[in-house]
Amino acid sequence: MALECLVYVSLATIEMSDDHLREMLRKARENNTKLDITGMLLFRDGFFMQALEGPKDKVDALYEKIAKDSRHKDLILVYNKAIANRSFADWTMGFNKIDDKTLECIDGFCDFMQKPTPDFFMTRASEAEALLNEFKHQIFF
Ligand SMILES: Cc1cc2nc3c(=O)[nH]c(=O)nc-3n(C[C@H](O)[C@H](O)[C@H](O)COP(=O)(O)O)c2cc1C
Repeated sequence: MALECLVYVSLATIEMSDDHLREMLRKARENNTKLDITGMLLFRDGFFMQALEGPKDKVDALYEKIAKDSRHKDLILVYNKAIANRSFADWTMGFNKIDDKTLECIDGFCDFMQKPTPDFFMTRASEAEALLNEFKHQIFF
């Protein structure tokens, strides 16, 4: 089965405490292990960006399921492409919470995600990909 990487952005509909995020990730990692899905989730100020990678049918089905989750809304698919190799092979779902201090440390990302809106990323697939990759070596929990 061909591998696919899908990236989307969305807005949280509820206050996401660390406890809530931790529990959501626990469940996600349990499911993703079974589905052979890896990826990365970034959270900043009510805004999510997630990469899902794995067998195409599994990724598409999981995205459909995630899209129905009432904890977020206004999902925008940033890109969806066939890949030869995984970028996040080490993570059933890596996670990082981005704060201003973190962003300052990243060259070229000073203004990025300061006022995140999902449509901002629609035309910036490569920036989204770079941002996800930047964080894959810094896992928050
Ligand atoms: C931003 C966000 C990212 C999510 N990521 C995943 C994920 O990677 N894998 C997953 O199984 N569920 C994820 N979920 C949760 C799913 O929407 C859903 O609640 C969960 O898969 C239900 O699991 P269950 O059918 O085993 O109860 C995510 C939810 C949100 C809001």
